[in-house]
Amino acid sequence: MSENYILKAEKISKLFGGLVALKDVELELAQDEILGLIGPNGAGKTTMFNVIAGALKPNTGNIVFNGTDITTKRPDQRCHLGIARTFQITKPFQNMNLIENVMVGSYFGTKQTIVSKARSKAEEILEFVGLSNIKTFEAKSLSIGNLKKLELARALATDPKVLLLDEVIGGLTPAEGNEVVEIIKKIKESGIAIIMIEHVMKAVMGVSDRIIVLNYGEVLAEGTPKEVSENSLVIEAYLGGIK
Ligand SMILES: Nc1ncnc2c1ncn2[C@@H]1O[C@H](COP(=O)(O)OP(=O)(O)O)[C@@H](O)[C@H]1O
Ligand SMILES: [Mg+2]
Repeated sequence: MSENYILKAEKISKLFGGLVALKDVELELAQDEILGLIGPNGAGKTTMFNVIAGALKPNTGNIVFNGTDITTKRPDQRCHLGIARTFQITKPFQNMNLIENVMVGSYFGTKQTIVSKARSKAEEILEFVGLSNIKTFEAKSLSIGNLKKLELARALATDPKVLLLDEVIGGLTPAEGNEVVEIIKKIKESGIAIIMIEHVMKAVMGVSDRIIVLNYGEVLAEGTPKEVSENSLVIEAYLGGIK
């Protein structure tokens, strides 16, 4: 059963002092799916990404990737293996241009590369996310919408098997949001498994194969977008307040 999953989180708990940010969270991701991770602010979504990507060590539990336990591996090692992420608070290299920002991704990625290859690949990815017309601009000049696309581009440059997207649509205009949804669909078609944290319900419900709802650090519900959006516990804890 577990061989069908590219990524598995087993009984993950994370404490910050007395605060239980995650409690016994179980999560599985198949190679051909988009999993939506939703829930109120403070539910533990970003903490879960930090544990999967290796930025935080869990107090209990294991992360299994591609059949191997990676719980003790560093973030850069996980990136080499094929786990890439975007940050909710975007973190570009401000004084580097977009091509250079995306090239950095290649050096941390799953494949060895050389400068000329990293550059041509960066240009290709910038074209894919719709930033090629401003590829020589410095990152500090970008709007929030373009910063989110740059985050996506840099993560893609690592050639990931699993991509963790932390609120890449929140804060965008509806038109930009639709554009990013189309990009996410294409990424899935290219064979990359995705977990997306998102508050924009239309987007996350429309694009996800399956949804997990976190609430106070625990899994409140799991199912298809339809099942989850009709779940009375979910409506009470989260959806009721945002519609
Ligand atoms: N590094 C940290 N130190 C202390 N508390 C943290 C830290 N990161 C997150 N938290 C707390 O853990 C809880 C979950 O946060 P987070 O995972 O960011 O939630 P979400 O992404 O679902 O909004 C919140 O109460 C938050 O304040
Ligand atoms: Mg968050």
